[in-house]
Amino acid sequence: MPEPGFRKFINEIASRKSAAVTVFADFCRMSACALAAGSREEEYLEVARRYTRDELSDISQAFAHLVQEMERHPFADLLGPFYIECAAHSSKQARGEFYTPPEISKLMARVLFDVEAAKLKKEPITLNEPACGSGGMVLAVAELFAPDAVDLLRVTAQDINPVAADMAYINLTLWGIPARVILGDTISKSATREWMNVHWFRVGENSRRLAQRFMEVAEEIEAPTSTVDLGQIRESLELKSQLTFDF
Ligand SMILES: C[S@@+](CC[C@H](N)C(=O)[O-])C[C@H]1O[C@@H](n2cnc3c(N)ncnc32)[C@H](O)[C@@H]1O
Repeated sequence: MPEPGFRKFINEIASRKSAAVTVFADFCRMSACALAAGSREEEYLEVARRYTRDELSDISQAFAHLVQEMERHPFADLLGPFYIECAAHSSKQARGEFYTPPEISKLMARVLFDVEAAKLKKEPITLNEPACGSGGMVLAVAELFAPDAVDLLRVTAQDINPVAADMAYINLTLWGIPARVILGDTISKSATREWMNVHWFRVGENSRRLAQRFMEVAEEIEAPTSTVDLGQIRESLELKSQLTFDF
């Protein structure tokens, strides 16, 4: 039985407002936007407008509880099972969706990846999840690489369902997994939206390898025998009196 935590806040708002699956979808949208480093503000406000100040306070509390619960359960997908439960109770929106049980995802990840060999190779590992749901399968792979080699991963995760895309975005971002999440139909190769999370852009293995190569090349270059006259260089570049930038 999962602890009440974030679920309690969602259910409480839902009891006064609308179906739990709708409130949960809004919670996921607002949380994903909040994790997008200011790049999804308009989307956030569009959803937030539907809630009172007190409800928004409950939603932010729900997010805080989610983060705390995730810390207690590393790489567990807490969102997917709750979404399925909410959707199942909503006759209108029930889609009969089911996500792969974590034990199966973990087994598949272990079969697919030789983690020690990958860590030694230190090359980026691209991973494509074309129907990602809440991202449970990616979490199972990331757990194998954690904590020191999660940034080897370059994940592309796609789903046709916006709630799934938001859940995957939240899960992958909060667990530090570099990811590009696409909302769209994988079969028809259409993408409605796509979001790269903050980890996608951070200094990762590619940049480290580039920097290392740069240092190797720098060491190979022979040190100059004479001292460099900076004044002479400035003069030849006609920069003598222009030491600040012009705007
Ligand atoms: C059975 S769930 C599996 C989710 C996840 N891969 C897992 O194993 O837990 C299937 C997912 O595929 C998504 N899906 C179905 N048709 C799709 C399509 N044409 N393009 C992208 N995603 C699709 C659904 O929205 C759902 O999230």
